[in-house]
Amino acid sequence: MFLGVVPKECLQQIIKVMDVEAWTDVHVCCSGTFRMDRALVQANPALRVHSNDVSLFSCCMAGLAIGKPVTFKFKGELAFVEKLIKGGDAITRAGAVMVAFEMARYSRRNNEFNRRHFDYYQNRFVEYVDKVRPKIEATLAQMHLTSFFGGDWRDHAKAAIEMGSNIIAFPPFSKGGYEAQFRFIDENVKWNAPPYDLYDPGDLHEITQALDDVGGKFCILTDQVWEDREPVLKYSAGLRLPHYCYAEANRSSLVRKESRAAPFKYQPVELAELRPKTEIVVVQADSATLNFIKDVYLAKGIKHVSGALNYLVFADGKLVGSIIYDEGPVTRMAYGPRTINVLSDLSVTTDGKISKLVAMIAKSRSLVHAMELKLVKRYDRLVTTAFTRNPSSMKYRGVLKKLSRRENDAGNGYVIQYGGDLDTRHALAAIGALCACQTWLSGMAIRSRLTRR
Ligand SMILES: C[S@@+](CC[C@H](N)C(=O)[O-])C[C@H]1O[C@@H](n2cnc3c(N)ncnc32)[C@H](O)[C@@H]1O
Repeated sequence: MFLGVVPKECLQQIIKVMDVEAWTDVHVCCSGTFRMDRALVQANPALRVHSNDVSLFSCCMAGLAIGKPVTFKFKGELAFVEKLIKGGDAITRAGAVMVAFEMARYSRRNNEFNRRHFDYYQNRFVEYVDKVRPKIEATLAQMHLTSFFGGDWRDHAKAAIEMGSNIIAFPPFSKGGYEAQFRFIDENVKWNAPPYDLYDPGDLHEITQALDDVGGKFCILTDQVWEDREPVLKYSAGLRLPHYCYAEANRSSLVRKESRAAPFKYQPVELAELRPKTEIVVVQADSATLNFIKDVYLAKGIKHVSGALNYLVFADGKLVGSIIYDEGPVTRMAYGPRTINVLSDLSVTTDGKISKLVAMIAKSRSLVHAMELKLVKRYDRLVTTAFTRNPSSMKYRGVLKKLSRRENDAGNGYVIQYGGDLDTRHALAAIGALCACQTWLSGMAIRSRLTRR
């Protein structure tokens, strides 16, 4: 309904890049539909969210969420609404604002199309309000706001700085765009609208610099590219304007998620050397060791993120590949709390089906158990993301199910999500059984053990 809503994937990326789980407070500037605010609480239920906006709809929703409903009266061209919703509760009134906002698109009634649409909404107004009610209730159920500031987002950001709180801002991409969208509502509703200064996106670079100068911790979403500042993330999809996310200059969490590489001597496995008595050994390793392997085998120029649990896979002492698991708000949000994310499952060779072997080993519950003990929780399934030039990744065929697929940003490949249940046979012997199903390993009695490096 509202233009300028943060795209879901972008929102997930922001939550992943910023250390949201470690935050105690966040000031969301320009909350709009509270999409960001809701996702933040989902990622970190203990987070105190201080929201902000100036529109009547946002103020109504925030008023309901914090138990202080906004009072207002429809007038002028919307005076008919008051009669229709007479006696309705605050949710009905917020629903009426939402429907009136949709009607506003046709409010100029300068042609037959607009006139007909406007009349249509007018004649079915109550019906539409009834339809949006469940949506409002569902949104409210996710809005756990600690406070709301109806006013200028720059003042809200200042308050955050004073409190030492984090800032997430999604200010409008164009000057006066929101004012134009809300004009019909503002002209036809009597309410105590919060005062604020018209925001000009041309000021954003300076505002960002000023936030840096006072040591603010922020994440600002914009469509602007700046020469003197690297975005911490870029999101673009299809024909949508790209979104760039800028954070404070001395931000460390991205850097912190990477660690040094610790080289070690190894011999890569050779398919021809695999024998019926080949012993597969899976060894727990630290991030630095994994970084070394990733530097050798993964595409250069990609920032490899460390995970929470790492393994190296050996066959008769020769390196087969590595597996990295992670657990985080994005996976939990998208796939539920019992899902573990396989950040990487690389193999040192593309020969035979060695990569499939690594993918199958990654499915073993025995490996994930170390994480279960650490976090005192249980995992049932895993997900992983494949970046490939082909519409499907052969190594997961028969191992995991395809959950989603989209074209990559460059338009030269795909980003595919795969997932599946963890292999609950609680031993690596299960891998032997799985491998035996593969023709290249048929007849092999793979002995396997799990050990620590
Ligand atoms: C790009 S949208 C934010 C969208 C929101 N994050 C979402 O996903 O729904 C911009 C919002 O900024 C609000 N806004 C515009 N100027 C503002 C100002 N000076 N101070 C606070 N909010 C403002 C508008 O009412 C609108 O809801």
